[in-house]
Amino acid sequence: MAHTPNPPVQGRLISHLAERSAEDQGSGWSALWDSNESDLWDRGSPSIALVDVIEQQKDIFSPFTPDRRRKRALVPGCGRGYDPVMLALHGFDVYGLDISATGVSEARKYASSEMQSPQGYNFSSGTAKAANIGNVKFIAGDFFSSEWESEALRDGEKFDLIYDYTFLCALHPSVRQKWAERMSHLLHPGGLLVCLEFPMYKDPSLPGPPWGLKGVHWDLLARGGDGIRNIAEEEEDDAKAAKLTGQFRRAHYFRPARSYPSGKGTDMLTSCPTSASFWDYPACSAAGKVAHRPAIVFNCANEHTSLITYPVDNLTAVPDLAAVLEGDLTDWVSRTANSTLPRNQQNIPVYRYQHAGQYPNLNPFRWLGAYHASDLPMNVGSYPIHDCSDGSLLIPQLPLVAKVLRFGADGKAVQQVDRVEIDGPCRGIRKYDQFP
Ligand SMILES: C[S@@+](CC[C@H](N)C(=O)[O-])C[C@H]1O[C@@H](n2cnc3c(N)ncnc32)[C@H](O)[C@@H]1O
Repeated sequence: MAHTPNPPVQGRLISHLAERSAEDQGSGWSALWDSNESDLWDRGSPSIALVDVIEQQKDIFSPFTPDRRRKRALVPGCGRGYDPVMLALHGFDVYGLDISATGVSEARKYASSEMQSPQGYNFSSGTAKAANIGNVKFIAGDFFSSEWESEALRDGEKFDLIYDYTFLCALHPSVRQKWAERMSHLLHPGGLLVCLEFPMYKDPSLPGPPWGLKGVHWDLLARGGDGIRNIAEEEEDDAKAAKLTGQFRRAHYFRPARSYPSGKGTDMLTSCPTSASFWDYPACSAAGKVAHRPAIVFNCANEHTSLITYPVDNLTAVPDLAAVLEGDLTDWVSRTANSTLPRNQQNIPVYRYQHAGQYPNLNPFRWLGAYHASDLPMNVGSYPIHDCSDGSLLIPQLPLVAKVLRFGADGKAVQQVDRVEIDGPCRGIRKYDQFP
């Protein structure tokens, strides 16, 4: 007779939620809050990994937007509210969301004492030193429903920052794609999704929660997968990565020096801005979401050429120039044109520049042209074009409704060209010149 192995011993959390369908998991969590079982997951303090990163990377995690508006942050599945409170103590206006009314009431109790007299664990130094603190508000609602949104956002508003810790891993795998869609819907274009990835050590095929998440965030957010099947390693080839269909790109990925003991050494911190390729500028501008301030928009003439695979064993062989041209137009010039047009229609000044220079010492290959990043020597000032000590722009200003400043072509440092010469080919007018 065949030996039947004993079923694995399941934890209380796993067995409790296994009894419910994927749609009914939320009420399962609420039941656990109501029966006072939050100690099954409650770690009793904010994410020290997040505390460290927001204190160390102040440029990315400034609590203010450039126009000095306080940034709005969301922590979905916030439990007792440790992370929302910690973010508010660092200056953000924070919304903690949880499906359990009991959980939300616990979070409000926690916040009312903690915001008055914060404990040291909210700060890297271990010493409370809050200044210029934001507000924290808790909302009872289902992350997957839009019903609660009006309690946090007025018309057209979105969040600047969303933090996920032990929320995705608490959810049934069948809703992972919806989780990614909701994240993208709730964030501003360019807003930041920060996830402390846990548990990374657990086999993803084993039952949860917590569900093992190794590779899942990247698959959902950047690759556009379902977070379940064919989870692949992160794509390192830039050209291939640029074609991924996920609504985020991964900007930072690192193992935090400090994290909870349960994940220490395996937790990973990932921060993902919404992907620029998903910013639909015409749609944003139609909704009035274009920044009403002058914009600088800058391309290289043959931007895509360094992003196309070319024969590395024969550097003088030319890559597929038709593919380069298509990339120049679809991935670069069209986006530039699409962001210029609606701004111009609203009379917002746009300063357009095209880098067309070839530096023979950097680029001996004529076919490479002015490629992605070849403008860096100029941007960082190796080729000073204009004295900006008076605080003016680095490069001369032009009210560029119709003109673009082109740098480095024809042996000239700078010249004006008609914008139609560059943007026209995106609309079928003229041929695009990759080597002006
Ligand atoms: C594992 S706990 C993590 C809590 C918190 N992040 C922490 O670190 O203490 C998951 C939390 O998500 C909440 N939750 C589950 N499904 C939810 C949903 N659909 N919308 C909002 N919250 C949800 C649960 O009530 C629970 O508080």
